[in-house]
Amino acid sequence: PPAGQETLHLADDDVGLARAAELLRAGRLVAFPTETVYGLGGNGRDGAAVAGIYAAKGRPSFNPLILHVPSLDAAQEIGVIEGAALDLAQAFWPGPLTLVVRLRASAGVASLVTAGLDTVALRVPDLALARALLEQVGAPVAAPSANPSGRVSPTRAAHVLDGLSGRIAAVLDGGPTQVGVESTIIGASDGQARLLRPGGLPEEAIVAALGRPLAGPLPVPGDRPVAPGQLSSHYAPAAPVRLGVTMPAPGERLLGFGPVAGAALNLSEAGDLAQAAANLFDHMRRLDAEGTAPIAVSPIPNHGLGRAINDRLRRAAAPRD
Ligand code: TXA
Ligand code: MG
Repeated sequence: PPAGQETLHLADDDVGLARAAELLRAGRLVAFPTETVYGLGGNGRDGAAVAGIYAAKGRPSFNPLILHVPSLDAAQEIGVIEGAALDLAQAFWPGPLTLVVRLRASAGVASLVTAGLDTVALRVPDLALARALLEQVGAPVAAPSANPSGRVSPTRAAHVLDGLSGRIAAVLDGGPTQVGVESTIIGASDGQARLLRPGGLPEEAIVAALGRPLAGPLPVPGDRPVAPGQLSSHYAPAAPVRLGVTMPAPGERLLGFGPVAGAALNLSEAGDLAQAAANLFDHMRRLDAEGTAPIAVSPIPNHGLGRAINDRLRRAAAPRD
């Protein structure tokens, strides 16, 4: 990431808001307040911007991120919000509730946002400043908490600057956040409502709004067993995956990195880790869609975003039952 850049400290007036929106539209990273915690925002349509979020946080793995939108209508353009999800959106949006729903094919979201999944996490924050920003950006904004990986979530602009100054373009200062913990996440991609993460909206309120208890843990997708401890929110191709390959075996399809010959697809011919991160899930999905012949992956340097790429590749390559 452009470490050493000067991080602007923007006031929550028209000028600050316009500048923050302009930076986000241009693919830069801007931390902004929500009612829960400050988010580290990047344009959800821009794979390189989303890769930059992971780089700025120093996050060693790619988990799917929450997309922030200004309204239910904007959310509907990205995900399929119906049934229990629609009931909850109508009851609690704007608010500290994130809904995981099916991703629309037309959504135009960078594959790194969903970590290659067919589902997407959406939230309409209950802070007028945040919604005004999202309106002005005019694109969904991916935002995990605005702290370096392994540190606590920031509830003030000063906390954001403590951790990320010099690593992001700006922080929009909306004062201390009201809720102070992250949103509650409900999985609702299959018509049921399941608690995926407790958070700022109490489970009791959700159960009262639904008029029935929450469903159990997510069922195993397809017939692919999910190992204990392995989150179901990890994309794995059907094809076997072999890592660190400089010489693919006959019949293997090479997922290249750097200037390698004979690659079926290349994560980054230039050997750029941010570009590779932005392409990772898209390329895995494309190889998956093309067939089940084994996938061989070029060695990826294990520094910076390379650690997160290698984490995901190791999961994709892990033995399956
Ligand atoms: O309050 C919040 O939710 C804050 C503020 C900034 O809005 N955001 C936040 O985002 O906590 P993040 O990206 O750290 O939370 C992402 C969580 C992860 O635990 C991830 O596993 C889950 O959402 N998630 C995202 N997409 C998912 C999906 N498609 N399926 C299952 N879980 C998903
Ligand atoms: Mg966090």
